[in-house]
Amino acid sequence: MLLIVSGGIAAYKSLELIRLLRARDIAVDCVLTRSGAQFVTPLSLQALSGTPVHGELFSLTEESEMGHIALSRSADLIVVCPASADLLARMAAGLADDLATTLLLATDTAVLVAPAMNVRMWEHPATRANLAVLRARGIHMVGPEEGAMACNEFGRGRLAEPAAILEAILSMLASGRPLAGRRALVTAGPTHEPIDAVRYLANRSSGKQGYAIASCLAEQGADVTLVSGPVALDAPAGVRRIMVETAVDMQLACEAALPADVAVLAAAVGDWRTREVLSGKLKKQAGSPPPELALVANPDILAGLSAPGPRRPRLVIGFAAETDDIVARATAKRLRKGCDWIVGNDVSAGTGIMGGDENRIHLIDEAGVEDWPRMTKHEVARRLVERIARLLGGETRP
Ligand code: C5P
Repeated sequence: MLLIVSGGIAAYKSLELIRLLRARDIAVDCVLTRSGAQFVTPLSLQALSGTPVHGELFSLTEESEMGHIALSRSADLIVVCPASADLLARMAAGLADDLATTLLLATDTAVLVAPAMNVRMWEHPATRANLAVLRARGIHMVGPEEGAMACNEFGRGRLAEPAAILEAILSMLASGRPLAGRRALVTAGPTHEPIDAVRYLANRSSGKQGYAIASCLAEQGADVTLVSGPVALDAPAGVRRIMVETAVDMQLACEAALPADVAVLAAAVGDWRTREVLSGKLKKQAGSPPPELALVANPDILAGLSAPGPRRPRLVIGFAAETDDIVARATAKRLRKGCDWIVGNDVSAGTGIMGGDENRIHLIDEAGVEDWPRMTKHEVARRLVERIARLLGGETRP
């Protein structure tokens, strides 16, 4: 994304916006206008965005690194935040007298403006006319809001809140993609069920398959919550990740993520937890026998989410990690759990699937079984999400 920061007291809020965007792993290139630089420094923008800030149109160093035309072409979206009355006027007039306006004139990328100005400037017929021109050209707008202003006046002209600007950005980035406007819940990784202060029960799940699915869902425009057990993976771009440890925590996080249109439960949830967790470390005592662990069953998240009711996702997909009779067991599991599709895979030691980068799956739905050839987990995710998009993308939203 390309973020243009123009002059105005609200420019400081662009820092918060960058922070929110970076938390979603959205890459942000910043252009700071000369008047914007009176309110925030290039150093602040650079520190938060993690990339050098562009300021001058005729800067030899900047041009040698990335020409201004390339800069406007490389982004999926251009956001002007805050957009001053002056910048809106120059945009409407088609001027190209600095880097920001030149980029805006040289681009055919979607543009979102977040105006911020004094209420009288906002209400001035010149600004009204400029906005009408920009709207007619298909420029999107978020805010401004009504409220108290830095200049001690009250009225419309306050910059929209960064969270609202983020929402507008996310929906523009997603629009046109098949899962735009759909909410997805994905679980991934193992769970850790504590025994005492230092030990836990776990399994070999790496989380790679679930992370790849979350990533592909986000790429197709879905609003994704990834509930992840302890894994060594980075959060995929554009995904809201919630880290949990135990099955009980995972269940709570899943419930909090509802409603969802689709739930893909790829986590290898521990079936049991210890009846009690010692607050200290269990001590080894010379001469006494090893301790016995009493276990109790964990909640079944998949069965719970698949149960009929108003909060049931339209499409629930479970995973069945099996070591033998994969298709038969997975088919039985689909019926027992009540999910719509189940992905059966062979996790026997020799396959290298658990923890590895490849998978060989059997996709089971109402119609029967599809045996997919061995492929990377990313490719499995891509094809599975394609299938999800075919189902959900073709339906009208409730
Ligand atoms: O019963 P089993 O663990 O074999 O079922 C696997 C499927 O059920 C996976 O989709 C897994 O995420 C889900 N599951 C669950 N809650 C559990 C156990 C498994 O959601 N407690």
